[in-house]
Amino acid sequence: MHFKYQALSLFILFVFAIVACRQALYIPTLSDSQRIGVPCDTLVIGRNLYVKNCGSCHNLFKTEQFTKNEWAKAMVVMQKKTKCNNQEVKLIMKYLITRPKQG
Ligand code: HEC
Repeated sequence: MHFKYQALSLFILFVFAIVACRQALYIPTLSDSQRIGVPCDTLVIGRNLYVKNCGSCHNLFKTEQFTKNEWAKAMVVMQKKTKCNNQEVKLIMKYLITRPKQG
């Protein structure tokens, strides 16, 4: 491969890596599940609901961007912007507040 193209493809990979890292939403692990006493499946369902319902108007916020209280307050307003029922919102909240901003 010509050097110019090699450098270009490295650059493109680099940009993709940055974009991917910035958007990384944590995937629930067994240790999250044990720490808060919620089944891992429940957290995964919450994550899927969050991805499906909450990213159409703004980028998905990382769970670590808001404290538990901030998430709870935002959710009151945001639920009205989605078609989520209370049960779905509960599941999303479980995911969001498992790894919140500390404070
Ligand atoms: C129909 C569009 C729409 C959808 C869907 C939506 N949001 Fe929002 N969201 C907004 C807008 C607009 C704002 C900006 C401020 C406001 O209206 O309160 C916002 C603000 C927020 C904020 C506050 C950010 C800050 O800096 O304080 C959070 C957190 C948030 N949304 C989370 C969610 C979650 C969680 C969901 C899914 C349950 C969701 N949003 C779905 C439109 C949406």
